[in-house]
Amino acid sequence: MLGSSPEHDGAPHDSPSRAMLGNRRLRLRNPALSASRSILLIIGGGIAAYKCLELIRRLKDRGIVTRAILTKAGEEFVTPLSVGTLCGERCFTDLFSLTDEADIGHIALSRSTDLLVVAPATADLIAKMATGLANDLASTALLATDKRVLIAPAMNPRMWQHPATRRNMAQLEKDGVLVVGPNSGAMAERGENGPGRMAEPAEILAAIELALAGEATAQQRAIGFLGRLPGGAANPPGALAGRHVLVTSGPTHEAIDPVRYIANRSSGKQGHAIAAAAAAAGARVTLVSGPVALPDPAGVETVHVESAREMLAAVEAALPATIAVFTAAVADWRVADEAPEKMKKDGSALPPLALVENPDILATIAHLQSGRPDLVVGFAAETENVVAYAQAKLARKGCDLIVANDVGGTGVMGGDANTVHLVTSDGVESWPTLAKREVATRLVAHIARLAAARAGA
Ligand SMILES: Cc1cc2nc3c(=O)[nH]c(=O)nc-3n(C[C@H](O)[C@H](O)[C@H](O)COP(=O)(O)O)c2cc1C
Repeated sequence: MLGSSPEHDGAPHDSPSRAMLGNRRLRLRNPALSASRSILLIIGGGIAAYKCLELIRRLKDRGIVTRAILTKAGEEFVTPLSVGTLCGERCFTDLFSLTDEADIGHIALSRSTDLLVVAPATADLIAKMATGLANDLASTALLATDKRVLIAPAMNPRMWQHPATRRNMAQLEKDGVLVVGPNSGAMAERGENGPGRMAEPAEILAAIELALAGEATAQQRAIGFLGRLPGGAANPPGALAGRHVLVTSGPTHEAIDPVRYIANRSSGKQGHAIAAAAAAAGARVTLVSGPVALPDPAGVETVHVESAREMLAAVEAALPATIAVFTAAVADWRVADEAPEKMKKDGSALPPLALVENPDILATIAHLQSGRPDLVVGFAAETENVVAYAQAKLARKGCDLIVANDVGGTGVMGGDANTVHLVTSDGVESWPTLAKREVATRLVAHIARLAAARAGA
């Protein structure tokens, strides 16, 4: 007999009732119960299913109780025996199993947990979720649940970029589904590269812990953590609720030939942290990211680009936005003529690499005659005269706030800390050295105040 998670009474809740919210409050008051966090892991039919075995092991290490549903296609990749053994209880596979229904039932299975996690979330499972199909145990549990759902998409880049998957993902994000990944990189299929690799077990674990913590602390923080609660009950609105925030992050890669490019050391950590903090503050966030080795922040719509010109196009496509934060380290120059084939070293003259200027994304958007975001924030990475250069940049670019940071030999680019100065036409505010996440949280609070002041709120 499968027991229900201790913080629930095991009785199915037909709607997200006051009793459930009461349970959440109870959990806040009773830290001992945090040890009994539980998830229902739904393993879809993707090649990345094997990574779930490692995920289950890590969840166990963290004291997170895991029950698993394996789809029919999932069984082609991992066995119910290995999943069940790692979970410490039988793995569920069949909607019409009388034993399962007698033990717990598909409705209770989907509710006697704190969070549903779909990994790998295949294109098929995502489509089912977006349309509300319920034709097997996994999709029925997903439709019947009154808990948050976190998905870790994994598929071929073409499947991920297909308009149907884009539409389905947009629908899921509207529905408040949390997302981790996918990452970009080489696929299992030879020669395939791009977005679609499932987030690594460590990243999924971090997202699970964030989602579980969010549920426990939403009322404390009152920031509208990661969208709405299942069943339509709204979280308390955050400081940026109702706003569309556009963030750019990471470097750009400017191709020299098919294998070489011009880049910089930006890791994207600061921009991604700002996007995550804006989402946590209740905003709808679009993140336009250059090539980085980071997972897409949960609850954020992430658009992946390579070059400065692609980044500008993605930014323009994402408008209108109330607030735009341009954190990306956009390459100032690209080569005038990208070679169509790999350039050869043939012992003769060095290749002439004439450079031309890239579009200035910050200035372009800040100078828009119509459709300019209410608040345009730029970043200035400098190695000397940081504040003076930032003041000049503020005027030249036509933005409202420059966040200046000293990237000269301090390990800021790629590191986890940042020392920033906020430069506006009113003056300069200098902050101590802080973790990038902390800079992001404070900056989002600062931006929310500026936006509210502008709106006359
Ligand atoms: C070898 C192989 C690997 C596959 N990998 C993926 C994948 O990574 N992502 C995906 O969306 N579909 C993948 N598929 C296709 C799915 O298995 C198929 O769409 C299936 O119906 C999904 O079932 P599900 O809804 O249970 O996940 C793969 C198929 C095969 C044969």
